[in-house]
This record gives sequence, structure tokens and C-alpha cells, in this order.
Amino acid sequence: MQNNISLHVVANYNELSEKAAELFANAVKLNPTGVYGFATGGTPEGMYEKLTKMSAAKELDMTQITAFNLDEYVPISPSSPQSYAYFMAKNLFDATGVPSQNRNIPKGDAPCPHEESAAYEKKIAACGGIRLQILGIGTNGHIGFNEPSDTFQGQTSYVELAEETILANSRYFDNQDDVPRHAISMGMQTIMMAETLLLLASGETKAEAIRGALVGPITPKVPASVLQLHRNVIVIADKAAAKFL
Ligand code: F6R
Repeated sequence: MQNNISLHVVANYNELSEKAAELFANAVKLNPTGVYGFATGGTPEGMYEKLTKMSAAKELDMTQITAFNLDEYVPISPSSPQSYAYFMAKNLFDATGVPSQNRNIPKGDAPCPHEESAAYEKKIAACGGIRLQILGIGTNGHIGFNEPSDTFQGQTSYVELAEETILANSRYFDNQDDVPRHAISMGMQTIMMAETLLLLASGETKAEAIRGALVGPITPKVPASVLQLHRNVIVIADKAAAKFL
């Protein structure tokens, strides 16, 4: 494995969440007004729960951070319980007091998703870029909603979800047909510009994607494989997700 990747293999999901929360909290303590990137989904939920507890215990102050999320479904209203805006408010931002004006998530109901994507990209740049970006990984090796393809997606854009992603995410919807087919996602170039990347993976279903991401050939067929070219990637994986490393 490349030496720009620092891999921590932990016993289980709880240890993963603890280690990720500790690392993130330390970064915020060092830079309480910094710009941080967030992911949604099942993987960071435990980490967000621990951050919420730290904040309640006054061990962490997130009230001055600026947040940028990786992605949002299109079309979706931010008030829909399935939206990532709702997910972040419920799982982290409300309880930790991240001010609403500092919460940036692509608008899933913007009149033009292409314009919204371009404006989002500009806003990240205007805020000076992302200091620490939290990432999960799809079973197909996607990062954000950058799905396997013939080319790497550059900047934030309006993208189509892969069938595998629709299936995986249908657990949050009443039925599979309700899962939006599109999203706005930061591109791989946007993600690669973050100072530090924190990639989290838990469970055997992620083992093949993690192998492809960290030690496989760099190819847009496994979008996460481009992380091998980033200068500072921290990976926290539980034993099950790291089993092919
Ligand atoms: C979500 C995101 C996705 C997820 C990935 C894994 O904001 O960017 O790339 O990180 O689909 O999802 P979970 O954690 O639910 O397995």
C-alpha cells in the first residue's frame, strides 16, 4: 500500500465510530472555524452519534465550523426525511449546533441541478477548500455519488445513480421505485482537493471495494482507487472490511 495512505484496522463498527469521532474532534479542536466535509449513509452514523455525545458533554464545539456535504439526491426536497439535508440535521447538525447558514448541502430541489452543481463547486472554493473530508464507500467502489464509469468525474455535477446504488439505498425508502435516480455529487477532483481524506468502511460487503480502492489498479471503474493519488488519506476499516488487504 502507498505510504500516503494510513490504514487503521479496528475490531468492529463501534471501534471504527470511536476512532473516527476522536480523529475528527481533534481536527475541530485544532481548527474550530475550519471547513469540514461530511458524508451520509449508514457508515458515519455511529461516528456522528459519538460526536453528538462529545458536544453534549462540552468536549467538542462544532458551532463555528463550516460544513459541506458530498451529495444530495435529485429531485428531493430538503425537508423530506429521505434527503441528506434531513439526515445531517437529524444525525449531527441540530444537536451539535452547526449554524444553518454554515450547512452546505447541494439543493435537491434546485430549478437547474447543473447550475446548482457549479454554484456548489464555487462556494467550496470561496470558503478556501475543505480541510478534512469524511468519506464512505459504495459496494461498487463509488465515492460520493461518483459511480463506476469510463472516465473520472471532475467537479461537482448532476449525476445518474448506478443500479447497485439504487438497490443499496432502497433500504431508506418505502420501495425501490421511490429512490431518486439522480443526484448532485462533489466530483472526484473536488474531493481530491481536500487537505485530508478520512475514509470509513465497515463490514464484509465493503471488503472488495476497499481492496480495489487501496491496492487495486487506479481506474474510473473503481472511482475510490484514485484516492491512492491523494497526499493524505486516513482509512479506518473494521476487520471485515479490511479482510482482503
Ligand atoms: C453518501 C455517500 C456515499 C456513501 C456510500 C456508502 O453521502 O457519499 O458514497 O458513503 O454509498 O453508504 P453506506 O455508508 O450507507 O454504506
